[in-house]
Amino acid sequence: MRYVIGLDVATTSTKALLLDQAGAVVASTSSPYEYDMPRPRWTEQHPVVWWDAAVRAVRLLFDQSEVFGGEVDAVGLTGQMHGSVLLDTDGEVVRPAILWNDQRTVDECDEIRNRIGRQRLIEITGNDALTGFTAPKLLWVANHEPENWAKVATILLPKDYVRFRLTDVRAVDVSDGSGTILFDLARRNWSPEVLAALGIAESQCPTVFEGPEIIGRISSEAASLTGLAAGTPVAAGGGDQAANAVGVGAVTSGITALSLGTSGVVFAPGDRPTFDSDGRANSFCHATPDKWHMMSVMLSAAGSLRWLRDALAPRTSFEDLLFGAAEAGPGASGLTFLPYLSGERTPHNDPNATGAFVGLKLEHDLRHMTRAVLEGVAFGLRDGLDLMVAVGIPQPVSIRASGGGTKSTLWRQILADVLEADIDIVATGEGAAFGAGLLASVGAGHFDSVESAVTNAVEVETVAMPAGNAALYREGHSRYKALYPAMKLAFSASTDR
Ligand code: XUL
Repeated sequence: MRYVIGLDVATTSTKALLLDQAGAVVASTSSPYEYDMPRPRWTEQHPVVWWDAAVRAVRLLFDQSEVFGGEVDAVGLTGQMHGSVLLDTDGEVVRPAILWNDQRTVDECDEIRNRIGRQRLIEITGNDALTGFTAPKLLWVANHEPENWAKVATILLPKDYVRFRLTDVRAVDVSDGSGTILFDLARRNWSPEVLAALGIAESQCPTVFEGPEIIGRISSEAASLTGLAAGTPVAAGGGDQAANAVGVGAVTSGITALSLGTSGVVFAPGDRPTFDSDGRANSFCHATPDKWHMMSVMLSAAGSLRWLRDALAPRTSFEDLLFGAAEAGPGASGLTFLPYLSGERTPHNDPNATGAFVGLKLEHDLRHMTRAVLEGVAFGLRDGLDLMVAVGIPQPVSIRASGGGTKSTLWRQILADVLEADIDIVATGEGAAFGAGLLASVGAGHFDSVESAVTNAVEVETVAMPAGNAALYREGHSRYKALYPAMKLAFSASTDR
């Protein structure tokens, strides 16, 4: 039997997954870490933390599975997107990476829009300048730490630092590359126009590859640390959203994916670079060659339910909370929840938006509040889906759902009713690491293409179908949609405090 490894350099751990040549999961390990918050709304991690965790996770994988390095045909990489890894000419890290959830770059986003023109920026990159993305972080370092910026020889993404330590190659894949917003989305490569406008040299940008391409080999130093065999090929891989989509089989137009973790994402692959001319949805290259994707991102999805539990009922299990929500019934007796607990990305792009319960009455209790949270998150996802359908993705009849929130049968049913689509889940719940493993399998020749890897290795089961509540939820969604514009001013006033 031959194997591949998928490595996911995530925000709170690095995960390693061993797949056999048919794409079945053989073993899985993870090595946790924290991120630093040097100031409120700032988040950073030192890239060496990821490397140490990757070494531990891979060693553990070999220990657990009794598979040897020599039996592994390729390694595929994925990870948190948008982080800014800055290397000097010797390959030393210049400063800690600024992460995707850091909010320090509001002024730099304006600076980017001013230098390039907002409309032109969206036209080239498919995206508006958002604090989460890489380009504003680079400008921030140039503006605030010129002595560090002067040392930067190469800009990498988080997983690509681990690749650099594994292979000595400085490279990026197209999906993570496009997440920098320094990319020409249609050409799947760096945009000379954007780079010039932002004062970034082409020589600072690593070579670009498609997801399944083999772009380097395990060095003898990395081999002795990890247990991998020297010379093992390493595939380009993809950013966590694109790799997760590979893992659930969302690689061709018409298959829509939804991930319901702390954040919530609706993800639609496409054959062309499609984008919202107002920059409300995000458009990036897919990890599948010649495919692109659009996605809507809500920041507090299952995170809203966790917040409710921690804030109002810390001793109640999620199971009991959900039981209560089922008792409250569809519509939560007129109570509406806005899930903007950490601002919102799609569709409002508003870091000042806040959460709210609207319509509270004496007859409401925790059960209605829980139900309103589940429904409010589903309405937020519907906003994202509607926006993407308006821009041109096909209206889905079924959606492939993954992430912790989809373990709840009640939440699955609410999603089916609100999104008016069947909800399917996949047999492997390993997410982005599984997708990275499949990309490596294609690179290793276990499958001919990403499409055939997905057809062979991803099993899908329908777990919920719309059940006749469409009219009630359409009305609930209209009420929900009317609340953001009505409350926008109040949101800004409350964030001033
Ligand atoms: C995607 C995004 C997150 C991060 C961290 O645009 O910001 O998915 O990649 O998971």
